Amino acid sequence: MLASKRILLIIGAGIAAYKSLDLIRRLKERGAAVTPVLTPAAEEFVTPLSVSALAGEKVYRDLFDLTDEAEMGHIQLSRSADMIVVAPATADLMGKMAGGLANDLASTLLMATDTPVLCAPAMNVRMWDHPATQRNLQQLQADGVRFVGPNEGDMACGEYGPGRMSEPLEIVAAIEAQMGSGPLSGKRVLVTSGPTHEPIDPVRYIANRSSGAQGTAVARALAALGAEVVFVTGPADVPAPEGVQVLRVETAQQMSDAVEAALPVDAGVFAAAVADWRMASASDKKLKKSRDGLPVLEFAENPDILKRIAHMGADRPTLVVGFAAETDNVIEHATAKRARKGCDWIVANDVSPATGIMGGSENAVTVISDSGAEEWPRMGKDAVAERLAQKIADALTG
Ligand code: CTP
Repeated sequence: MLASKRILLIIGAGIAAYKSLDLIRRLKERGAAVTPVLTPAAEEFVTPLSVSALAGEKVYRDLFDLTDEAEMGHIQLSRSADMIVVAPATADLMGKMAGGLANDLASTLLMATDTPVLCAPAMNVRMWDHPATQRNLQQLQADGVRFVGPNEGDMACGEYGPGRMSEPLEIVAAIEAQMGSGPLSGKRVLVTSGPTHEPIDPVRYIANRSSGAQGTAVARALAALGAEVVFVTGPADVPAPEGVQVLRVETAQQMSDAVEAALPVDAGVFAAAVADWRMASASDKKLKKSRDGLPVLEFAENPDILKRIAHMGADRPTLVVGFAAETDNVIEHATAKRARKGCDWIVANDVSPATGIMGGSENAVTVISDSGAEEWPRMGKDAVAERLAQKIADALTG
């Protein structure tokens, strides 16, 4: 929660400014007060009226507005906040900050402040990659400015790459993490996600259809509640969330090693679709077609990461949450799986093709714990993640 915190939100001139309207809402929901500042060009993207209506406060726009100076000088304005958030932080704003320019209200506030500053950059991918922006980024990081994003994805200009502003909830998570608030602040949580790839030879591998969407959403939601998240991911389709520690792995064995190295944690959420088997010995040369017939693949069993962690002694996380991907008798199989694996909760879902859940954007889960089976309605994977993160927060802090 951000109750009684004051955020000075500087909205720069970028198409992503529309997301800052939602950011204001999200901050207010958490009890923060938001003092908005619009750069003159930002007014081309969002109106002062909509910004002030959402913030419930006056919008500051002009350095030479003497009424404002009489009410509250820019020095005081910059220091009365607990944090300054620049979203979107344009290439121009970053350049001014790095160069120490102070020729308008936003840049003057940023020069005059002694409070922490968090930037959420948003710009065209070429502009982000430009040596000048990268130089400015390094300078600002060295000056102690924090960054969230940018994310990778499709851009309003039609290009693809890093440059999209982080989503409002990711920015909120970064603010909460920096302020040490949020119900999970001070808690360290591990999340496994995505499929694993088990090599057959240097060019072929065994995999599964997991996109990593649910595990990614869970990691994002936990971070949004203030947790320090270690995110161990196989080769997923979706990009990793911002504001978490990302450990990329390929095989089940690598995932197991990364998980053990991340301990101790307060909670572990095992959302990865780990391959149960690997090749007994992967070939280091490409297998060739031969006259002797088809190749015979010999399997060996992979470590069961969830089971191993759930049965640990002193290092066992307080809460161990597994997932169960089933195609039939979901509750029955998942209940048996929970007992077999030794985890506290199992989040069971039906991944039979007709449900469209594996690889899709929705999920319908049943959470099985000591207190029985709790069936959740079908909803977006983000909503499932937010509800699960809240349940984890309740269990760890209640
Ligand atoms: N899991 C794991 N390590 C493995 C296999 C599975 O950590 N080697 C975890 C998954 O991340 C998930 C849970 O165990 O949280 C159940 O995964 P699932 O694939 O549903 O179960 P399996 O163990 O593969 O059991 P079965 O093949 O009988 O369905």
